[in-house]
Amino acid sequence: MSLATRPDIDPIALMEAAKEQCKIPIKLSWENVTFDAQIKTTKADRAANPHLGATKVLNVVKGVSGFAAPGQATYIMGSSGAGKTSLLNILADRVTSATKTYLSGNILFNDEVPVNKETFQKYAAYVMQDDVLFATFTVKEALTFAARLKLKSSIDVQDTLVDQIIEDLGMRHIANSQIGDVHRKILSGGERKRCSIGVELVSDPSVILLDEPTSGLDSFKAQSICMLLHRLARNKGKTIVSTIHQPSSASFHYFDRLILMADGHIVYQGDAKQSIDYFKQIDRPVPAKTNPADFFMKLLSINYPKQQADEEKIAYLNQYYHALLEKKVKAENRMIRLDSPKELGADAINHKAPTNVQLQQLMHRSWTLVKREPRLFRAKFLQTGIVAILMMACFFQVNGFYQDESLTTGEVSAQNMAGAIYFMTVVQMFLNF
Ligand SMILES: Nc1ncnc2c1ncn2[C@@H]1O[C@H](COP(=O)(O)OP(=O)(O)O)[C@@H](O)[C@H]1O
Ligand SMILES: [Mg+2]
Repeated sequence: MSLATRPDIDPIALMEAAKEQCKIPIKLSWENVTFDAQIKTTKADRAANPHLGATKVLNVVKGVSGFAAPGQATYIMGSSGAGKTSLLNILADRVTSATKTYLSGNILFNDEVPVNKETFQKYAAYVMQDDVLFATFTVKEALTFAARLKLKSSIDVQDTLVDQIIEDLGMRHIANSQIGDVHRKILSGGERKRCSIGVELVSDPSVILLDEPTSGLDSFKAQSICMLLHRLARNKGKTIVSTIHQPSSASFHYFDRLILMADGHIVYQGDAKQSIDYFKQIDRPVPAKTNPADFFMKLLSINYPKQQADEEKIAYLNQYYHALLEKKVKAENRMIRLDSPKELGADAINHKAPTNVQLQQLMHRSWTLVKREPRLFRAKFLQTGIVAILMMACFFQVNGFYQDESLTTGEVSAQNMAGAIYFMTVVQMFLNF
């Protein structure tokens, strides 16, 4: 089915379906979100504006409001530097504080529960752009490890869940392949990404946020990730929010809602298919036989430092967004009404294994590394042996090693022992197994 013939998405019907499929269906909404960062000015900045000091405030996200509903996959698109990742991080309460930053606005789950680290951990999950998977684990082991650390259910229940996730991800045939890393390519980029998504699925989050899950993948693999996200929304009632870069038209077909960003503003928000009609209405029609996503990327591209044409383009898009869409989005947001997560029993959720299980799992993981990377093990063994011989040479029979008339034998050995202990501690820190 082409995009033109696809029926419009009915958010209310999808929400009702999500209520059946998902234990705790969640709407994520944000209102008047502004994010500023203080950054150092460059020489060129100061040359252009002599009144500028050593730092300036960069408005990264400029007072945006919106929502993402259950049962739908919402995609955030825009040129690089538009503030997509920043918005996603804000929604996940994980804005980086590397520099001085200022954040304001309301971000809520189901119009009621404020999003913070604690509530986010309960209802949501974040899949990062760079996956952090353990290279020597197999897909199944990675998911099992995550299940053991996140779930309190019995081992059997956890294993059944892991099996189910592998099935959902379509990874049955490679469940026992090692994940690999940049040096040892085993899984393909798309498969690694699926595995990262699977690790997050273990805790059965109602909301899944993803930062550019398709970057670095070819268009076929990117499409399969979009299909997976579409299935998670439709079949499991999850709320998917993902940033995406340059999707193909086949991937675009799987978008339910689309948010377009330019220079920190939201310039379109609504049904992905209807975006085509909207841009036609504001006299920026998508040319025939063109991938709408390509056209949007071109339309939203902005050169920094901004030229007059860029400023005019942003003003134009903003003006129409405020005139035609802002109220509509607010009304749609009000229509999606869901019970408070507390009433749905979400208070009991706690994704943390007890300390003894954590310790056991970490030791098991280290042992797996030793078994699967024998070269690393041998190198460390050799290193430890050499350091031990060096230490022996230095501290052998420390009692008689250093003679000083002013010190008693007791003092001499105490000093030497302190030296030996210090050295051993440092070696342990840097050469641990
Ligand atoms: N904490 C921060 N400190 C300084 N600058 C930031 C910070 N977060 C984002 N920015 C800047 O804001 C702009 C938008 O960033 P980002 O949200 O990553 O864009 P996108 O994901 O759309 O490419 C970039 O120019 C980035 O350098
Ligand atoms: Mg980004």
